[in-house]
Amino acid sequence: MKYSRIAGTGRYLPEKVMTNADLEKIVDTSDEWIRTRTGVERRHVCTEDQAVSDMCIEAAKIAIEDAGIDVTDIDMVITGTTTPDFIFPNVSTIVQHKLGIPACAAFSLEAACTGFIYALSTADKFIKAGEAKCVLVLGAECITKLLDWNDRNTCVLFGDGAGAVILKPSDEPGIISCHLGADGQYKDLLHYPYGASNNLALAGTESGKILMTGNEVFKVAVKTLGNIAAKTLEDAGITHEELDWLVPHQANIRIIQAMAKRLNMPMEKVIVTVQDHGNTSAASVPMALDVGIRDGRIKKGQLVLAEAFGGGFTWGTVLMRL
Ligand code: COA
Repeated sequence: MKYSRIAGTGRYLPEKVMTNADLEKIVDTSDEWIRTRTGVERRHVCTEDQAVSDMCIEAAKIAIEDAGIDVTDIDMVITGTTTPDFIFPNVSTIVQHKLGIPACAAFSLEAACTGFIYALSTADKFIKAGEAKCVLVLGAECITKLLDWNDRNTCVLFGDGAGAVILKPSDEPGIISCHLGADGQYKDLLHYPYGASNNLALAGTESGKILMTGNEVFKVAVKTLGNIAAKTLEDAGITHEELDWLVPHQANIRIIQAMAKRLNMPMEKVIVTVQDHGNTSAASVPMALDVGIRDGRIKKGQLVLAEAFGGGFTWGTVLMRL
């Protein structure tokens, strides 16, 4: 079998919802400012004792059922996340064990908001090489645990969640192409510079917070995503008219609208969840995909372009037939 294809999807959102009105009570902001600048109206926030693996497991159960497979069919787990439970063991091993998946390759990768696109692209290669037959691919984030709730520049933007897909071999595409990119020269525009080998003492504390130059991120994101999306279509010999759906990273409605305009796609052909989810980083694309499939808009056989952009900067696209 030459290709990989998505056989099932699932998502999990934490129960607790914070609206813009809730945020008005915490920082000097307004529902009007948040909605007009970002498109966000509410976001889900995980509890103190809820870890990324907990959300992954719930999303994975739904994707497994949707794909009509058994956990014993899965022979690889890949999770895109920047907010893992621990430095080690990695999230995928926790998910593998708790779900009862037989021992298999299980690893996590870190590409900020592009994490799921990187994970899906990696899973596609393993399947095409014949080294995996059924991959559980996850994008999940407890990004609100890194927020400084006193910083109105960032705390209004983000939310938590997990998305999952089951990827299997197929005689027909499936995944048509993946384009990944990164450029570390932009590292200071959006970062959380605290980790295992640097500033460990500040990680997870009130002094350690997400640092972002929002307007610069905005400009590079629109330009880079526009270029990579155009290249993806050009390389595949596909015109924008042939695309059925754009499933973009849900960072900001204005970035999404700019992307749709660049691709000449009406907003009716774009899956938008930013109003309900906020920016859930690596979870945003798989959750948006799941929303679009489950509400009946994205149908089997349709052509979908998924894209993401995140800290690093990292970016990527996946062109696929559902
Ligand atoms: N509520 C009210 N005012 C706020 C605010 C908030 N939550 N956050 C910032 N402001 C204020 C700023 O302090 C600034 O005030 P000043 O002019 O008195 O200094 C003003 O709003 C404008 O700030 P600016 O940063 O220029 O706003 P912006 O139009 O660029 O919008 C973002 C800010 C963050 C919404 C926008 O830059 C953006 O979406 N960037 C991309 C971020 C992103 O997508 N990151 C993730 C990529 S994966």
